[in-house]
Amino acid sequence: MDTGAHQRILVTGGAGFIGSHLILRLVQEFPQWTIHNLDALTYAADLTPLIPVSQAPNYHFHHLDITDVNALTELWSTYPFDAVIHLAAESHVDRSIQGPEVFLTTNVQGTLNLLTLAIKHWKDQPKKRFHHISTDEVYGSLGSTGYFTEQTPYAPNSPYAASKASADHWVRAYAHTFGLNAVITNCSNNYGPHQHPEKLIPLCVERMSRLEPVPLYGDGLQVRDWLHVSDHVEGIIQVFLRAEPGSQYVIGGRNEWKNKDLLEQIAAVVDRQLARPMGTSAALITPVQDRPGHDRRYAIDPQKIENELGWSAQKDMPSGLEETVAWCLKRSQSSVNTRKT
Ligand SMILES: NC(=O)c1ccc[n+]([C@@H]2O[C@H](COP(=O)([O-])OP(=O)(O)OC[C@H]3O[C@@H](n4cnc5c(N)ncnc54)[C@H](O)[C@@H]3O)[C@@H](O)[C@H]2O)c1
Repeated sequence: MDTGAHQRILVTGGAGFIGSHLILRLVQEFPQWTIHNLDALTYAADLTPLIPVSQAPNYHFHHLDITDVNALTELWSTYPFDAVIHLAAESHVDRSIQGPEVFLTTNVQGTLNLLTLAIKHWKDQPKKRFHHISTDEVYGSLGSTGYFTEQTPYAPNSPYAASKASADHWVRAYAHTFGLNAVITNCSNNYGPHQHPEKLIPLCVERMSRLEPVPLYGDGLQVRDWLHVSDHVEGIIQVFLRAEPGSQYVIGGRNEWKNKDLLEQIAAVVDRQLARPMGTSAALITPVQDRPGHDRRYAIDPQKIENELGWSAQKDMPSGLEETVAWCLKRSQSSVNTRKT
């Protein structure tokens, strides 16, 4: 990617959790580029984190659905994009169990719509890059040992993971068949400010702050490999700028936590930040029936991105959690105040 020249970059899903963090960095650090944020503004979107850049001359927002081929075609004709970073997706596993269809239309058909336009507009232009943002959930579940790497066979277990795995395959096939300069990144669980309150960490903080029961699926011994969103965004930028066409990278922070231990850690931080007696929040943790097909363990071996691109996770979990809990408590408090007025 030529960082010096003007580039028109399409970021899909930029009003979501990870997308908004990415857009803030791109708009501020690459003033020579124009960043086009395309988002359907579903329930998961929030444009408020983007207020600091909303008036920037190199930022444009398009309220558009990636399943709307006509609107997408018109947009691409109006703004001939030089690159795509594709994050737009339905992203919540529980919702994919309750209603999988939209995961097929958005995550698979929506990705195919973008790929189709990319190869139509970028014929014989190998520098134009399509970066697909995916998840480690495409690899299924690990036992108590081992790690996901770029060689791990796909074995998606939830409808969400199946839709992301399918999209990854379409991207790979378009790179192989049509010579599209595509790269794929598969990241572990993200956390940080601005995450939707339906996701594990913000959900726990909000419930603990309201003294409500905090559900813990099954025995709570499921393991997730947590990465601060700022580290994921740095990984995306490094891969986008420097990875070989057709390459794939897993991204993770070597930071495995059992769900039960994570909830107890969050409870301690919440109690401290709210100056409550220690143990108040932990007492709210309530085991509930496990999620159907719940994967047992995810863990990433990030050697490839570390060795080839010099990336490594920078944010340690204690300080990342401290900051995230403080942010979630503030949001929870402001939504209480809004409800009162
Ligand atoms: N959050 C994680 O832990 C994590 C980890 C690895 C990979 N990912 C991937 O990163 C991407 C972003 O995840 P996130 O956590 O920010 O998700 P999110 O749910 O917070 O945001 C998704 C965004 O996509 C938009 N969107 C949904 N359907 C759309 C459509 N049809 N057309 C246009 N926009 C649409 C939503 O409005 C929202 O702004 C997803 O592709 C996800 O699979 C997420």
